[in-house]
Amino acid sequence: MDKHTLISNINKMKKEQNAVIVAHNYQVDEVQEVADVVGDSLALSQFCAKNSADTIVFCGVHFMAESAKILSPEKTVLLPEINAGCPMADMVTADALREAKKKYPEAAVVCYINSSAEVKAECDICCTSSNALTVIRSIEQKDILFVPDQNLGSYVAKMVPEKNIILWKGFCITHHKVKAEEVLKAKELHPDALLLVHPECKPEIAELADYVGSTKQIIDYAKNSDNDKFIIGTEMGVLYQLKKDNPTKTFYLMSNGLICPNMKKTSLQSVHDALAFKRYNITLSDDIINRASHCLNKMLEVCK
Ligand code: 13P
Ligand code: SF4
Repeated sequence: MDKHTLISNINKMKKEQNAVIVAHNYQVDEVQEVADVVGDSLALSQFCAKNSADTIVFCGVHFMAESAKILSPEKTVLLPEINAGCPMADMVTADALREAKKKYPEAAVVCYINSSAEVKAECDICCTSSNALTVIRSIEQKDILFVPDQNLGSYVAKMVPEKNIILWKGFCITHHKVKAEEVLKAKELHPDALLLVHPECKPEIAELADYVGSTKQIIDYAKNSDNDKFIIGTEMGVLYQLKKDNPTKTFYLMSNGLICPNMKKTSLQSVHDALAFKRYNITLSDDIINRASHCLNKMLEVCK
C-alpha cells in the first residue's frame, strides 16, 4: 500500500472506531504526522486520562501504552508494535523492588514512568522527566527510593539536596552511552549554540547543558528562546517538531548515537494494521490497574 492510501485508510478507520492516535516525540516523522496528539510522557498521560475516544492507538513503547490503559481501563489501548519495549523499564522488576523496599522500610518509593505496571503497583507515586522535581518536593519523607533511572535520580538528587535519593542501577541504553568528549566536541564546533539535554543522560553531560528537560520541555525551550542555534541532547525524533516549529533555527544532535531502536519500530503500516486487526490489545488485571492507578493519579494530582 502506498503512503497516501495508508493515511487515508488510517483516517477512515479512526473515524469508524472513534479512535485517537497518540505518538511520543521520538516516533518517526510520518507517524507523528498522522497522530492526533504528539508529546512527552506527561502530556500523553494527561491526554489519555481525559479524552473521550473508545480506542487509543499508542505509538510509543510498552510502558506508555500500559500507562494509558491504567488511566483509562474502559478504553481499548492498542500498541502497534508488540515488541516495542523500553530496556530501562525492564531494569527493575516488582520482585526486586519488593526486596529493596524491605531494606528501606522508611523510604517513600518513587518510580519513573518508564517502568512496568507491576512496578508502578509497588510505588507511592510516579514521575516523568518533566515533573520529577515537583513530585520529589511534594513527598514528606526525606528518604526516597527512586527507580529505575540512575541518571534522572542523580539529577533529582542534585536539584533537591534536602532529600536523600536512594538510586537504582537502571539507565536508558540510548542516552546513557553519550560521552562527555563528543558533547565537548559538539560545543567546540558550534560555540554559539545552546545545549539542551534530557535528564536520562549521565550527570557529567547534564552538567555541560544550558537547559535540562523532558522532550516537550526541550521543544518548548527552543521555540521560546531568542537563540537560533541548538545542540540537542535527546533522541533524534524531536528534530521533526523542532524543525517544524522553527524553520529559521539550526539544530545539531549532541551525538550520532541518539536513536532509540524501540521507538523506531512503529511505522505507518503498523498503525494501519493496529486499527485494521485491533492489535496489540493491552490487558492488565484489575488488581494491577487499581494499585498502579494510585501511583499515576497521584502524580497527575500533584502536577495539575
Ligand atoms: P519524555 O517524557 O521526556 O518524553 O521521555 C520519555 C522517554 O522515554 C525518554 O527517553
Ligand atoms: Fe526507553 Fe531510552 Fe527508548 Fe526512552 S529512549 S524509550 S528510556 S530506551
